Amino acid sequence: MTFALKNKFLIFMLIVSGALASASSRILDETILAEKYKQWMVQHGRTYEMKEEENMRFEIFKKNLEYIENFNNMGNQTYKLSTNEYADLTNEEFLAYYAGYKIFPSKISFKTKRFKYENLTNVPASIDWRKKGAVTQIKDQGACGSCWAFSAVAAVEGVIKIKTGQLFSLSEQQLVDCARIHKTQGCYGGWMDDAFEYIVKNHGLAKETKYPYTSKDGNCSHRKAAVRAVQINGYEDVPHKDEEALLKAASQQPVSVCLNSKGPEFQFYSGGVFTGPCGTSLNHAVAIVGYGKSEDGTKYWLIKNSWGKSWGESGYMRIKRDVASKKGLCGIAKKSSYPVA
Ligand SMILES: *[C@@H]1O[C@H](CO)[C@@H](O)[C@H](O)[C@H]1NC(C)=O
Ligand SMILES: *[C@@H]1O[C@H](CO)[C@@H](O)[C@H](O)[C@H]1NC(C)=O
Ligand SMILES: *[C@@H]1O[C@H](CO)[C@@H](O)[C@H](O)[C@H]1NC(C)=O
Repeated sequence: MTFALKNKFLIFMLIVSGALASASSRILDETILAEKYKQWMVQHGRTYEMKEEENMRFEIFKKNLEYIENFNNMGNQTYKLSTNEYADLTNEEFLAYYAGYKIFPSKISFKTKRFKYENLTNVPASIDWRKKGAVTQIKDQGACGSCWAFSAVAAVEGVIKIKTGQLFSLSEQQLVDCARIHKTQGCYGGWMDDAFEYIVKNHGLAKETKYPYTSKDGNCSHRKAAVRAVQINGYEDVPHKDEEALLKAASQQPVSVCLNSKGPEFQFYSGGVFTGPCGTSLNHAVAIVGYGKSEDGTKYWLIKNSWGKSWGESGYMRIKRDVASKKGLCGIAKKSSYPVA
């Protein structure tokens, strides 16, 4: 009886201490998470005006961190995720602020009139336009749906360097403010072909320094827009749903492309060859600035994004190329174009 009592007491104690242990490990976890959050805030210079906001963002950060760690711990993926500067945003918020490719069709209907690279043969196995000095530094669109302007500018910067030997960083803001023909709408999204068309009609585009980026919609400054640094003669669309045609074009110059950037894997991509998951409806625009094959033989496109350097491989992503679907991975072969200088 005494034994039984003692035993019961012991079991009771075990239960209590067990509960205490798990409670204290939860507190410990919470402390570690709070510490990680603080470090992340410092690293990305994040401050919040209200304590409530900080607490709310901490809850999102924790969920994202858990998702990222689980993904990386699977250990069987061809790429990694990390808590980049977007780790306190839900995927819905992230997409609302940092994409901006218009999904409904432009008034310029997508038609391949002429594709000057169609008969190209001897396409090199790999190319990196950065190594040829045809790519400016990684830029950051901020919370403005201006990806289309960054995509168009990257392609123009590239073709101008290839044609003239000079690399200029050019103005996205001029496109955001001024390229509103066909209802292109600045921070609410737009189309690269409208941007190219604007540059042709304006007889040029200003340098970044002459018409600097504000990450906001503004009125077109005709004074700044008149300080033209470069000119293009037109643009061509790449035959759609054809990665072979896209390859021909990308072997000759950086190309503006659209893709589907939905999902936490895209938001937190930090390196390796991205293989999805992703859909094929288009919501974001980037520029192809190269292509190649990874060490394990996976073919990839090298894309330049406009989400700063904390995202991806210092701002770039390698994304799987030559997939079974004609649309390309994430729809990358659905709608692409390039300026002609
Ligand atoms: C990796 O492993 C997880 C869990 O076993 C599985 O669900 C997932 O499909 C795998 N992914 C790949 C790319 O093989
Ligand atoms: C490609 O070759 C075909 C057949 O010779 C020709 O009709 C077409 O004009 C060429 N395309 C270009 C862009 O030169
Ligand atoms: C643009 O111009 C209009 C009319 O002059 C003015 O009301 C508005 O505040 C301006 N917007 C910006 C962002 O400067």
